[in-house]
Order: sequence, then structure tokens, then C-alpha cells
Amino acid sequence: MSLIYNIGILAGIQPEGVLRVEGKEQGETGILENAWLRIDDGRIADFGPMSVMPGPDRASLDACGGMLMPGFCDSHTHIVYAGSRDGEFLDKINGLSYEEIAARGGGILNSADLLNRTLEDDLYAQSMVRVREMMSKGTVAMEIKSGYGLNPDAEMKMLRVIRRIKETVPAAVKSTFLGAHAIGRGYSHKAYVDAVIGMIPEAAKWADFIDVFCDEGFFTVEDTDRILTAAKGLLEPKIHANELAVSGGVQVGVKHGALSVDHLERTTDAEIEVLKGTGTMPTMLPGSSFFLGLPYGRAKDFIKAGLGVALASDYNPGSSPCGDMRFVMAQGCIKMRLTPIEAFNAVTLNSAYAMGISKDYGSITPGKKAALILTEPSWDLTRMAYQYHTPCIRKVIQ
Ligand code: NIG
Ligand code: FE
Repeated sequence: MSLIYNIGILAGIQPEGVLRVEGKEQGETGILENAWLRIDDGRIADFGPMSVMPGPDRASLDACGGMLMPGFCDSHTHIVYAGSRDGEFLDKINGLSYEEIAARGGGILNSADLLNRTLEDDLYAQSMVRVREMMSKGTVAMEIKSGYGLNPDAEMKMLRVIRRIKETVPAAVKSTFLGAHAIGRGYSHKAYVDAVIGMIPEAAKWADFIDVFCDEGFFTVEDTDRILTAAKGLLEPKIHANELAVSGGVQVGVKHGALSVDHLERTTDAEIEVLKGTGTMPTMLPGSSFFLGLPYGRAKDFIKAGLGVALASDYNPGSSPCGDMRFVMAQGCIKMRLTPIEAFNAVTLNSAYAMGISKDYGSITPGKKAALILTEPSWDLTRMAYQYHTPCIRKVIQ
């Protein structure tokens, strides 16, 4: 048991049973000033005001007036990859688009070539550098996708590496099979979709979710429908949709009961309508809008329509080489005009929902995991997004 006391602001309090926040509720969260919080067996036991604090014990921690909040949940990453794509960074600066780089054999296929040549232990070591970086910046739960293997052996190698990360780190790790990330080298389009379907039973032994890059130039709605039909009952869908075009990916994702549909840089009101009343969490990835110069998702319109929105980093070598969830939160505010509390809920409770773990993560609620960020004194949620580059995390508790 341990006690954290002298908490300046305890932020992100939610009643038990709230698994996501939508519409107006996304702009609200429970805050308690001058508080204590007790942890028992790694879980939040209770909390209250300093005026009625339980007696401190040997394991107490003086928060010195810092803010205590739930750690970040990053529900969309591709952090298992080999090498780097810094050469393409120069192509990009010289004016080539993401699609043009991909069409020249760069992009995802470039990462796949590197990954196929990389030994499993080395891939694990390279990926762990990024995992540690994310954890040091306050991420306590992360989803990690395959998708740079693009053949059965290398896809399974990726899923094994993700499993090994999960077994090594204190952060919660969820694993997604993204065989349908690009057409693997040496396959025709049809043969590769068939191959992905063939990989599903083995992938289901390693992964929690299945993803398809349903977008212009990658996989069609029909491919996605076939793949998700084959995965039914084995892997729950989380879809890449509407990054490069209005792709129909949201609709096919909702049809298959996807837990989340992600990217959404290009959406019309039809996508908003189809998401209403579903269990699917729209997830936006401002880091890739920033890096690729794409439009930012219409998060505010989604919330106005009564939906919830999650934000995630999309940490990957091609479209978002950054896993800093504070930067994601800041972009939610600055570029998507979310209020700091809307952005905070998007990177904690709603992103936990988007990876199926909001029963245990994403808010200050008795019974949830004590996976927390303690800041230096005088920080609050607004300052966290506003002064987004000033170090403020004193300790990540997990
Ligand atoms: O989410 N859009 C598809 N996949 C990744 C990018 C992967 C890459 O370029 O390596 C994304 O942005
Ligand atoms: Fe992605």
C-alpha cells in the first residue's frame, strides 16, 4: 500500500463504470484540489481532500503540489520497426507526397525490406528504445501493430516481438495484426489479400486486434470486408480509414463492429452519421497530419454531433516519428480546437476505450490500475497542452 499526498490537482476523476466520454461529456472531468490518493496492490484504492487525510505510512510520496493524472493511453502505434526512413524525410522536404514516396517503392515497403533483413532480437532491441521513450513521456498503455513484415514469416516475427515487449514492460500492451498494411513484395493484390486471410488463424494466437489500411492505393472496401469477415470471432477490428481519401473505411469498420476507426483526416458528414449510436471510437492522429501536411480531423464536429473522440500518436517511421502524447494533446487543442479537457479525455479515457482497456485505465477511479503521471508543482491540464514542450513530468507511476 502507498499514499500520495499534497497533490495540488487530482485530475481525471470518473465514477466507476464510465468507459468513454462522448459529446458534451468529453469536455468534463472530475478535479479535486489539495488531495491524497491511496494505492493498494497496484490499483487506486481511494482518494480524498487533504483536510481528511489518512495517516501516512512508510511508502508515502509527497507530491509537493504537483498534478496527479491518469497516464497516457496510446491506442495506435507502429513502434516495432527496423532502422529509419530519414532518407525519405529529405524526399518529403523536396516536395514528394506520401503517396509518391510509396509509389517509388519507398514508404511502408522500404520499412518492410529493412524489417525482413533484421534479426528478431535486434528488432526487439530497436523497438524497446521507443517503448522506453514513450513510457518516460507518460504513456502507460500502448497498442502496437504489425504491418512491416508483409509475408507470413515476418508478420509473425513482429507479433512475437510485440508479445515480448508486453512481457517485459510494466505498461499495458495490446497487439494488432496489420498484415493488410501494403501489398507484400512479390504478390499480386489478390494473392496478397488471400495471404493475409491465410495468416489470420496464426495471428490470432498472438494478437488482440486486426487492422486494415482501407484507403486509396492500398486496400479497398471489398478487401477490408473479406479480411474482417475471415477474422470474425478471432480478432476484433481497428481500422485505418480516410487518411488519403474518403475511403468507405469508416462504414466497413462500423459494419464489422470495429472498436475504433483511425486517422479520419478526410471525413464528410456521412462518416459522422454512421458512427452515431455505435461502439466504435473515432480516433484521430494529429501527428500524421502535422508530419504529412494533411488536414486535421474534424474532432470538434464529431464532439458537437454527440460522439467521443480519441487521439493517439501513430508513432511510426513514415508519417509520425514521434510518440509524445503531450504533443498530441497540444495539437488537439491548437489545431483541432479541442478544449484542454476534451484533449485530455481523448488521450486518456477515450484512447483506453479504443484499445479495449478503459475498465482498467484512463481515469482516476477506485479499482483502476494506478498508472499515473505526477507532475512538478504548479501544472494543470491547460498548461500541459499550452506549454507543451517544457518538461513537467516528475514521475510516471506504474
Ligand atoms: O498510420 N497509414 C498507414 N500506416 C501508417 C504509416 C506507416 C508508414 O508510413 O510507415 C500510418 O500513418
Ligand atoms: Fe497508423
